[in-house]
Amino acid sequence: MSSQSAQCTAALVRPRSLDQAADSESAAVGQEQEANLEESGREPEFPAPVPLPAYLQQTYWWAYLHPMAVRVFERQWLVNLILWGNFARLRDLALDELGASVQGDVLQVACVYGNFTERLAQRLSPTARLDVVDVAQVQLENLKSKLNDAPRIALHHQDSTHLSFPDASYDCVVLFFLLHEQPENVRAKTIAQALRVVKPGGKVVFVDYHRPSALNPFRYVMLPILTTLEPFALDLWRRDIADWLPDSVRATAKIEKETFFGGLYQKVVIAV
Ligand SMILES: C[S@@+](CC[C@H](N)C(=O)[O-])C[C@H]1O[C@@H](n2cnc3c(N)ncnc32)[C@H](O)[C@@H]1O
Repeated sequence: MSSQSAQCTAALVRPRSLDQAADSESAAVGQEQEANLEESGREPEFPAPVPLPAYLQQTYWWAYLHPMAVRVFERQWLVNLILWGNFARLRDLALDELGASVQGDVLQVACVYGNFTERLAQRLSPTARLDVVDVAQVQLENLKSKLNDAPRIALHHQDSTHLSFPDASYDCVVLFFLLHEQPENVRAKTIAQALRVVKPGGKVVFVDYHRPSALNPFRYVMLPILTTLEPFALDLWRRDIADWLPDSVRATAKIEKETFFGGLYQKVVIAV
């Protein structure tokens, strides 16, 4: 855990520094900072901060950015509760798309509370590599502490809308509950970037919220929760993830969608 998190004992109030948010959604181009756990064996250094997106500072500061956030939310039982007991099932649905033994180069866009990345790391074959990107430094530091110097994993301080990786550089890209947090224009850029960096013959795997069926009681529980806490999430109730794909990809890619838990969650796999 970061020293910043460890030192804070204050109540969960929005820090003043977050009130000074830049209103640009992100200007992270070319400002990647990397903590390569395998090669460096040293503490990550993040001398040139990547700007935090406005929506993260304004809507999700309490979940990801506040010094107390990691201490509060980094509990397996809590992330499982937030997903109504479905965390392990949804995690494994995403990971199974990568394979029981993951081969090649994999990109995870955005850190996840709970053991998602640890379980992915356990599946890496001896020749596979995993890169993880997040725009919040505190989340990368938290993930580093969870990974315990696992080999062949590199953490990158980047924004999902401006990935610095070359075109067609990953066999698989996975996004676990990121899209619902992003405003529509940001979400479209994130999807376009994920598709840009995946190799021909590779795939992009999304697991996220979806509109539950009218008979699902969680529909009526989640509507006020998402409206209040996660305002962009309802976009995924109204539209398919495929709607945000660039036209050229939508015309040629193989798109598979499955829903779970009465439709509250979806897995979308785009094979390019
Ligand atoms: C994957 S999402 C939510 C996952 C899940 N709800 C959980 O329990 O962690 C949360 C992560 O996305 C990151 N994130 C949000 N916007 C991002 C962006 N534009 N680029 C990279 N990471 C981003 C946040 O910093 C946070 O670590």
